[in-house]
Amino acid sequence: MTHRISLLLFTLLLPLLASLPSSARETLTFDCGWLFCLGDTSAMARPDYADTSWRQLNLPHDWAIEGDFSVDNPSGAGGGALPGGIGWYRKHFTVPASLGNDDRLFITFDGVYMNSSVYINGHLLGTRPYGYSSFQYDLTPYLRRGADNVIAVRVDNSDQPNSRWYSGCGIYRNVWLTTTAPLHIANWGVYVMPTTKNGRTWTVPVSVTLADDNHEGQHPMVRNTLFDSNGKIVAQIANGSTGQQMTVRNPRLWSPDAPNVYTLLTEIVIAGKTVDAVRTTTAFRTFRFDAKTGFWLNGKNMKLNGVCDHHDLGCLGAALDNDALRRQLVKLKDMGVNAIRCSHNPPAPELLNMADTMGFIVMDEAFDMWRRRKTKNDYARFFEKWHQRDLTDMLLRDRNHPSILIWSIGNEVLEQWSSASADALTLEQANLILNAGHDASALAHGKEFSPNALLTIHLADIVRSLDKSRPITAGCNEPSPDNHLFKSGALDIIGFNYHEQYIKDVPKNFPGKPFLMTESVSALQTRGYYRMPSDSDYVAPERWDKTYTNPTMMCSAYDNSHVPWGTTHEGTWDIVKHTPYCAGQFIWTGWDYIGEPTPYGYPARSSYFGIIDLAGFPKDAYYMYQSEWTAKPVLHLFPHWNWLPGQTVDLWCYYNNADEVELFVNGKSQGIRRKADSHQYHVMWRVAFEPGEITAVARQHGKEVRRQTIRTAGPATSIRLTCDYRGETTTFVNAEVTDEHGTLCPDARNHIYFTADNADIVGVDNGSPFSTERFKASDRLAFFGKCLVVVRVKDKTKPVVVHAQATDLQPTSLTIQTK
Ligand code: GAL
Repeated sequence: MTHRISLLLFTLLLPLLASLPSSARETLTFDCGWLFCLGDTSAMARPDYADTSWRQLNLPHDWAIEGDFSVDNPSGAGGGALPGGIGWYRKHFTVPASLGNDDRLFITFDGVYMNSSVYINGHLLGTRPYGYSSFQYDLTPYLRRGADNVIAVRVDNSDQPNSRWYSGCGIYRNVWLTTTAPLHIANWGVYVMPTTKNGRTWTVPVSVTLADDNHEGQHPMVRNTLFDSNGKIVAQIANGSTGQQMTVRNPRLWSPDAPNVYTLLTEIVIAGKTVDAVRTTTAFRTFRFDAKTGFWLNGKNMKLNGVCDHHDLGCLGAALDNDALRRQLVKLKDMGVNAIRCSHNPPAPELLNMADTMGFIVMDEAFDMWRRRKTKNDYARFFEKWHQRDLTDMLLRDRNHPSILIWSIGNEVLEQWSSASADALTLEQANLILNAGHDASALAHGKEFSPNALLTIHLADIVRSLDKSRPITAGCNEPSPDNHLFKSGALDIIGFNYHEQYIKDVPKNFPGKPFLMTESVSALQTRGYYRMPSDSDYVAPERWDKTYTNPTMMCSAYDNSHVPWGTTHEGTWDIVKHTPYCAGQFIWTGWDYIGEPTPYGYPARSSYFGIIDLAGFPKDAYYMYQSEWTAKPVLHLFPHWNWLPGQTVDLWCYYNNADEVELFVNGKSQGIRRKADSHQYHVMWRVAFEPGEITAVARQHGKEVRRQTIRTAGPATSIRLTCDYRGETTTFVNAEVTDEHGTLCPDARNHIYFTADNADIVGVDNGSPFSTERFKASDRLAFFGKCLVVVRVKDKTKPVVVHAQATDLQPTSLTIQTK
């Protein structure tokens, strides 16, 4: 059965391979038709292992997201409280007859979490401990022509905890199969980085690394052609050298607002025949970080309005889904985000491709720990042996991406201090202790480089040896200049995580050094939950080592709740905005993520930090940033209008492009509010609740420019389905519980059941950080009136229909035309 499937898949692949000249490169997806089994025996590597009863699936795949939440799962709530373990994947395939005798066949894994061992026909190709590295193996020497071949991959995520957030388990990114001629461009073997001195004439140096066992006497010619986005050739060069240089005049520049990219085609030509070709995205932009004036892009001073993000995709887990990833980025872009920090590890290559073409500046980060571990079984145990390889691979894979403007060699590594070990801590404590502070004895003394400073220099040297075009930083939560990392002098940008109160001392403590908030804020918010009085700050936990409990398991969605090392959203933005030498910030975090449910413990199992919740519903702070970071007209009045009679309610409003906002409760004015100055980000009214409606009217020069009305919802009667994001394959549908007039019932918790025509339901969520309902299900409780269903289309020529029903509510359906 299995065999038949693999043959079928292979037959689908065959025409593609067969149509190629035997010597040209072709890269094909290798995601379909894998077999999977949870469990472990060494025999599973053997080609003849009886795998016919294994589960059939397509990659990318994350087995943890399919599991049940449990306090007993070894990942802990900090790791998402989902299962770990050991799993095996196998794929059968036949070598195409068209593959020339000398041709090569490679397999590329974009990411396997973690500790993968890859076998072909029983032969071990290699192991890779780091779950975020991409890697390639040459299959050629072990292929069996005309017979069944078996790739077997062992994935070991059994030693837990090994991450401070949810990692996922399995081959969670794409896998590719590449055929090349014997003489070919090495993996990640093209490096192009345009530079300019005067902003008009650009030099485009290209270096090409050839791989071949034996090409003596072949005299390959290297031809580089640069195309603009319309496919027009803007430069070309061909000669026998692997180091070439082209010149381009007045190209269109790349920026987040105008992400103009170019494509470089690199060909290897022998006797007039192209034997290999690789395409690389590149772009033209100048940038610099200045110690006095912050960040400059293409001669324009601007802030990095960035967010940190982990890699999971909510209810889809870590399994890469292009549509889900793009949806995340679209929502961030819409909020005004122009920069992303891949915290705290190399991302999926697709994220970088999207950043290039959608326009996000990227800080690409290598590690969350070096030699000193943060959790018992984390990468620190592999660091000594693997850091050189993993860091090098990140640079080689990523350095062409025009979106990347900063390399980060680490996040809050414990080497900032002479001795600081989290070894004895639980995962939950490890997540909290990072910002607890250390005494002066743990800082660097004297002029000599400590081992930790030397390690910093060593890592920065690896980066510089592969790319000198971007500055290097690290996310540091020790603001003293005697931090061993700062002391090393190897960091080009001083990067603070939090510690806003030390920003004023930066010019004095770090003279001449550019400065960036590599991480900031860590506000805590549950969408839909409001704690009053809203002008009080709620700090949770009170101190990192104190347990925080609150029976609601929630945090206030007014911007009045944060961790002790963090601030409100407005708090940090105010400093960043008004501090010219601060290049910008990366807010913790853009989206909620699974794991690290600070300030709560289980059953909380995902973060409260996001500006957008795990299901994709924006929290209110989203609109504060939108009002500051975009020119879009914003008027966002909140919270809802369903309270107890007479209850005192704080109403906040974020707005822009207006001079004033007036609030009306059932037609009665509650007064006009104006932001006093550029330090004020919202206006507020404190009013007594009476059922009915509230309206905010924004005026500019006395003329109404916008208004927003919120009504008191009556009893729930209906479900409203709307398409939140329609992808190529995966589509996201929001379900809202409403009253008979279509007003959202802000406290509704109805249990909604979904079915779909022409689509599979692949996940459900409601944004609650403490729900222990399964993500892989077709029903969900509404959370503050809302939930989400994610569907994957079966037949793209037909529409998808999503149906929703719940006890006592009118059933409803939504038809979505496919793309
Ligand atoms: C930082 C850390 C992040 C996250 C955050 C939560 O210290 O870099 O990974 O743990 O705190 O506030």
